[in-house]
Amino acid sequence: MEIKTNSKFLPGLVWKDNSGEPIQAHGGGILFHDGMYYWYGENKAVETTATPAVRKNGERFIRYQTELAGISCYSSRDLLHWTNEGLALPAVADDPDHDLHTSKVLERPKVVYHDATRKFVMWMHAETRDYQYARAGVAVSDSPSGPFEYLGSCRPNDAMSRDMTLFKDDDGKAYLLFSSENNSTLHVCLLSDDYLRPTAIYTRNFVNQYREAPAMFKHESKYYLITSGCTGWDPNQAQYAVAASPLGPWETAGNPCSGENAELTFNSQSTHVLRLEGREHAFIFLADRWKKDDLGDSRYVWLPLHMEDGKPVIQWLEEWDLNWFSGGDSA
Ligand code: DGJ
Repeated sequence: MEIKTNSKFLPGLVWKDNSGEPIQAHGGGILFHDGMYYWYGENKAVETTATPAVRKNGERFIRYQTELAGISCYSSRDLLHWTNEGLALPAVADDPDHDLHTSKVLERPKVVYHDATRKFVMWMHAETRDYQYARAGVAVSDSPSGPFEYLGSCRPNDAMSRDMTLFKDDDGKAYLLFSSENNSTLHVCLLSDDYLRPTAIYTRNFVNQYREAPAMFKHESKYYLITSGCTGWDPNQAQYAVAASPLGPWETAGNPCSGENAELTFNSQSTHVLRLEGREHAFIFLADRWKKDDLGDSRYVWLPLHMEDGKPVIQWLEEWDLNWFSGGDSA
């Protein structure tokens, strides 16, 4: 039987892997290694439950969540056709106290490769159902598709850690960026030389501005950081900031999205910005269009990101492919 996979990026539509199953890699990130792209993300192919809950201020709300299945890994050479490599970090069924127990929450996994140790290092947001655990989890593997060995979780420098991303710089230093202080302030923390621990070198950014869903990239020796506001699974307006160093100071510069629905990030929330391998000026903005009452059917919104006078620009396209970059890209 021939399986129809996408031959173009179709933001917001179901995206099937090479075996015909919808891709399960939410809140994800991409690693390029040895000619292959690896897409890591949350596997949410399990039932969504809606549980009434009460915030500290007494406000009632519904918490939408799935049981933890684990972190998926998919591989591709062209970013369109993806092979399911299985769970790179599966949930743990038999130990209720384990961070990876099916009753827990793991979000926004990102992986970087360490050139000297030759290890693949995954960091992720490790949570409990009530979102009070607020820790950063770390796992390591000899192979990009896993299995990853979970090393544990921490609060870097005693700070809460929720939505996060990783950034590996050209000098080999790696940084963990995470929403901290009850999501009010975003920390950027230098990781240890082996990428396995936070160091005491960190900065507090966007103080009291409640930013989450960080996605960072570098262009012409400047650093760019796209974030969302904090509105649960619902979309809001993205914002980007610019800095001369990953540790900041970060200067807020506006909404990178333009056109219709730009004020809601085209109904999605940032998760990663991928620079195309071998290209200086071609980036893909990766975002999640969450479907809160059926999280496993949340969709991916991938759009080209290009730079105009030092400003990232993201516009909506119904469909596109990598030829889109050939027009304006000089790389
Ligand atoms: C927004 C975050 O960005 C998501 O990763 C997830 O934690 C939801 N909040 C949960 O409501």
